[in-house]
Amino acid sequence: MVSKSGLFFALVALVNVTFATEQLRAIVSRSRRTTIDPRSLLKRDDTDPETLYPAYNLSVPIDHFHNDSKYEPHSSDSFNLRYWFDATYYKPGGPVIVLQSGETDGTGRLRFLQKGILHQLAVATNGVGVVLEHRYYGTSIPTPDFSTENLRYLTTDQALADEAYFAQHVVFKGLEQYNLTAPTTPYIGYGGSYAGAFVAFLRKLYPDVFWGTISSSGVTEAIWDYWAYFEPIRVYGEPTCITYAQKITNMVDNILMKVNTTDTTAELKGAFGLPNVTYDDDFAVVLSAGIGSWQGRNWDPDLNDPTFDEFCSNITSTLVEYSSTTGLVGTAQDLLTKGGYGSEISTLQTPLLNWIGWLKNTTVSRCKGSQDSCYSTHNSTYYQQDSISDDWRAWPYQYCTEWGYLQTGSGVPADQLPLITRLNDLEYASIVCREAFNISTPANVTAINQYGGFNISYPRFAIVDGEQDPWRPACPSASPFNSTAVNRTSTVSEPFMLIEGAVHHWDENGLFANQTVDVPPDFLPPLPVRDTQAMLKAVVLEWMEEWKLSQAGKELK
Ligand SMILES: *[C@@H]1O[C@H](CO)[C@@H](O)[C@H](O)[C@H]1NC(C)=O
Ligand SMILES: *[C@@H]1O[C@H](CO)[C@@H](O)[C@H](O)[C@H]1NC(C)=O
Ligand SMILES: *[C@@H]1O[C@H](CO)[C@@H](O)[C@H](O)[C@H]1NC(C)=O
Ligand SMILES: *[C@@H]1O[C@H](CO)[C@@H](O)[C@H](O)[C@H]1NC(C)=O
Ligand SMILES: *[C@@H]1O[C@H](CO)[C@@H](O)[C@H](O)[C@H]1NC(C)=O
Ligand SMILES: *[C@@H]1O[C@H](CO)[C@@H](O)[C@H](O)[C@H]1NC(C)=O
Ligand SMILES: *[C@@H]1O[C@H](CO)[C@@H](O)[C@H](O)[C@H]1NC(C)=O
Ligand SMILES: *[C@@H]1O[C@H](CO)[C@@H](O)[C@H](O)[C@H]1NC(C)=O
Ligand SMILES: *[C@@H]1O[C@H](CO)[C@@H](O)[C@H](O)[C@H]1NC(C)=O
Ligand SMILES: *[C@@H]1O[C@H](CO)[C@@H](O)[C@H](O)[C@H]1NC(C)=O
Ligand SMILES: *[C@@H]1O[C@H](CO)[C@@H](O)[C@H](O)[C@H]1NC(C)=O
Ligand SMILES: *[C@@H]1O[C@H](CO)[C@@H](O)[C@H](O)[C@H]1NC(C)=O
Repeated sequence: MVSKSGLFFALVALVNVTFATEQLRAIVSRSRRTTIDPRSLLKRDDTDPETLYPAYNLSVPIDHFHNDSKYEPHSSDSFNLRYWFDATYYKPGGPVIVLQSGETDGTGRLRFLQKGILHQLAVATNGVGVVLEHRYYGTSIPTPDFSTENLRYLTTDQALADEAYFAQHVVFKGLEQYNLTAPTTPYIGYGGSYAGAFVAFLRKLYPDVFWGTISSSGVTEAIWDYWAYFEPIRVYGEPTCITYAQKITNMVDNILMKVNTTDTTAELKGAFGLPNVTYDDDFAVVLSAGIGSWQGRNWDPDLNDPTFDEFCSNITSTLVEYSSTTGLVGTAQDLLTKGGYGSEISTLQTPLLNWIGWLKNTTVSRCKGSQDSCYSTHNSTYYQQDSISDDWRAWPYQYCTEWGYLQTGSGVPADQLPLITRLNDLEYASIVCREAFNISTPANVTAINQYGGFNISYPRFAIVDGEQDPWRPACPSASPFNSTAVNRTSTVSEPFMLIEGAVHHWDENGLFANQTVDVPPDFLPPLPVRDTQAMLKAVVLEWMEEWKLSQAGKELK
């Protein structure tokens, strides 16, 4: 969770790594509410999509902008941009639907060729479904290493040009008899999160190449100090849990920032089992592991991360959950007193003990090696590594140069208690920018926001956001969180949908038909997700009708 890349909570919910365990835990926890044997669902797991869809490469120019001096020295070489496709449902006249995989290895998105929105749209339109990798991720890497100089071609503009180039040049194996390039064939773009913002810009910058695009949880507004990440969590999280998290975090901050004596700081770190974390900011940031896992909540049992709910049910439990903390009662009372909550000991003592027990159980006990090696962001040696295996560098480079999104606690207004430590400030959150890339000025968010920011719009461009998404304050639906964003009326050409109760691009996921029969209703996608997917299908079919009309119009001319 707390990663050396300085990447705090990535746009991608990093649950794939623990896929099997998380899935099992999710299913087991759901099973408490139902009578079905959860193991019968595991049997419905599909084949690994990598065995179903072979990977292909398209050779693409490394540098699309020889007129722009920021890419000097220019390159005239090409690199292999990876993609996968499924033409099972293709019928002549159907579109090509490209899911941009964003700031991650594209293989993680292949499930959406099997089920979920990409599959659903391909079936509905007789289209070809495509997953397209983003430059500098997965195997689509244009340079021999990730040195700062070689990362200069990693801009959203260059990657957008890749996708436009792809649409204009790809020849799909087995479909050579058809001309499936744009604009001969209509192209529909889809993306979630960073990729959602990406396809928004794609439609606006390449309107003659992409007939329409769908931006899901698209973070179209780049923001340097993105403290607002925690605002939807504060507003939609379980109120008691949120209050305890705020007060205990404030207690920790008071001890570290106001009391700030060697003894009390050592007492605090020791209580959490983190005595050897040298830097106070590193220590305080580890405590936010539970709060930071909100983004990983998903209706899809394959992807759901239950950590947030577990954290909250731990710290709101009225029982002391971990016997290992019974010896810490006096310490907890002492810390609460020194941290300014002496009058609330009776309320906060058990939550504090359970937070300590939970963190030891889920995080501290998993650290192998020194605690600094697990939790410290202060490590120049680490950041100076830039070989081809240091692929952690790509997204921090993008956010240090163009996107920002430093998820600080310090940015929270002074009259409000933050959910994470104020020691996580701009200085701390941008250590990676200085150490890894020698960048000491804020990201140039204008490079992104020039395309419209919150208020981007274009014909045949759909916006889908999650009501409770921590990225919503950077999305077009930010309005309740940011008055700069407008409220819109939804139309077929410019649909504007907010999925009630949803977090991060919940419309992207889906189930096999055989996973939806004979199961209790709470195993199905929530109704607002199904409604949104049905709406998107209807919208794209309507856009295809417009396409047919436009082609008929051309023939008449
Ligand atoms: C469920 O359907 C998927 C997709 O058709 C298929 O790959 C899978 O094998 C099926 N699972 C079972 C248990 O029938
Ligand atoms: C695609 O390109 C990558 C990187 O150059 C290479 O490792 C991979 O083998 C290529 N894949 C195919 C199917 O050609
Ligand atoms: C470079 O050319 C592209 C069109 O190919 C144009 O959109 C862009 O504004 C130009 N950039 C500069 C810096 O002149
Ligand atoms: C597809 O059609 C376009 C427009 O007619 C043409 O320029 C292009 O060469 C064709 N591509 C292929 C692979 O046939
Ligand atoms: C605590 O005090 C030391 C010494 O004055 C100072 O260097 C440090 O920045 C303080 N820590 C915090 C978190 O304010
Ligand atoms: C902390 O460091 C001390 C001294 O090196 C060591 O004995 C102890 O095991 C360490 N504790 C943890 C939890 O890493
Ligand atoms: C506390 O968290 C653990 C691990 O995350 C979880 O297994 C357990 O069910 C939680 N306990 C309570 C009372 O919520
Ligand atoms: C975590 O707590 C659970 C009970 O809540 C216990 O079964 C498990 O052994 C603990 N794990 C660790 C690593 O402490
Ligand atoms: C710093 O990073 C280097 C390189 O990854 C690693 O070998 C070293 O253990 C790290 N030091 C600390 C204190 O984490
Ligand atoms: C920031 O980006 C904009 C748009 O690309 C560009 O015009 C401007 O020169 C950049 N500013 C800096 C300081 O690089
Ligand atoms: C948009 O609508 C929401 C909910 O009705 C409201 O809270 C918000 O203030 C409105 N924003 C603007 C900019 O009008
Ligand atoms: C609203 O958006 C603007 C523009 O990106 C940003 O500067 C500001 O900090 C945001 N305000 C809030 C409350 O998030």
